[in-house]
Amino acid sequence: MRFSGRVALVTGAGSGIGQATAARLAGEGAVVVGSDINAAGLEETAGMTVDGAVFHPVVSDVRSREACHELVNSTVADHGRLNVLCNVAGIARGHRVGDVDQEVWDLIMGVNVEGMFWMSQAALPHLEPSDGCIVNIASNAGLMGQAYTVPYCASKGAVVLMTKAMAMETMRTGIRINAIAPGGVETNLTAAFTIPDDPDMELMGRYMGMRGMAQANDIASLVAYIASDDGHRIHGSVLSIDGGMTAG
Ligand SMILES: NC(=O)c1ccc[n+]([C@@H]2O[C@H](COP(=O)([O-])OP(=O)(O)OC[C@H]3O[C@@H](n4cnc5c(N)ncnc54)[C@H](O)[C@@H]3O)[C@@H](O)[C@H]2O)c1
Repeated sequence: MRFSGRVALVTGAGSGIGQATAARLAGEGAVVVGSDINAAGLEETAGMTVDGAVFHPVVSDVRSREACHELVNSTVADHGRLNVLCNVAGIARGHRVGDVDQEVWDLIMGVNVEGMFWMSQAALPHLEPSDGCIVNIASNAGLMGQAYTVPYCASKGAVVLMTKAMAMETMRTGIRINAIAPGGVETNLTAAFTIPDDPDMELMGRYMGMRGMAQANDIASLVAYIASDDGHRIHGSVLSIDGGMTAG
């Protein structure tokens, strides 16, 4: 029960890593507010939480600055404080560079980069009094170049440096800000991911990993470690959890 008495906000809580994270933090005693654009997914998450766990679903779109601020402010108004923000909402699309249109670019940047920034901007004033923390989900794609996912890689590279830059700006506070860089995880995101026709598999093999896919719970365990007092010395870090994919 490492999160007893704490309030956590998890974006992307309706599926995959966000769902597992919300269930994990609630199972360890946190009051969890889980947001997503997918109401049915949030309902599923509510059904996954253990008896006695507290989970409040909120349908909200991280692409809107106003919605992010409203979500954070209503969480604090309803529950009195904010201890943990987990920025998990994200999307991925596979395209050759030449096939990326404005809509795809804006969608990926809007969710993966802007959404994370607006949520963090709204949360920081509330995390200062609670000595709280932010856990961002980056990706191995933010640490290595990958063919056919240039906008996604660019967005996750931005997540890595957004994390470090915010960690520097908050250095003189008690706030901690970190990112996790998972490799492949079995979720709806990977199930729906498509690659262009006739890909160069030799290029792609470099980022498939040799140890298979992780489960969402594997990532949720690391989120919980970092966000709990166990992670009290971790600040400004990007922790890989990718079965060695980025080792060499
Ligand atoms: N699955 C992987 O292999 C993998 C690897 C590395 C990083 N990641 C990252 O992990 C995070 C979670 O991915 P996942 O695999 O659990 O995917 P997922 O598709 O299972 O879950 C993502 C959730 O984000 C929600 N979402 C999408 N757009 C949103 C928006 N505008 N506002 C609010 N919520 C929105 C979706 O509805 C969905 O419920 C993402 O940031 C992803 O980039 C995933």
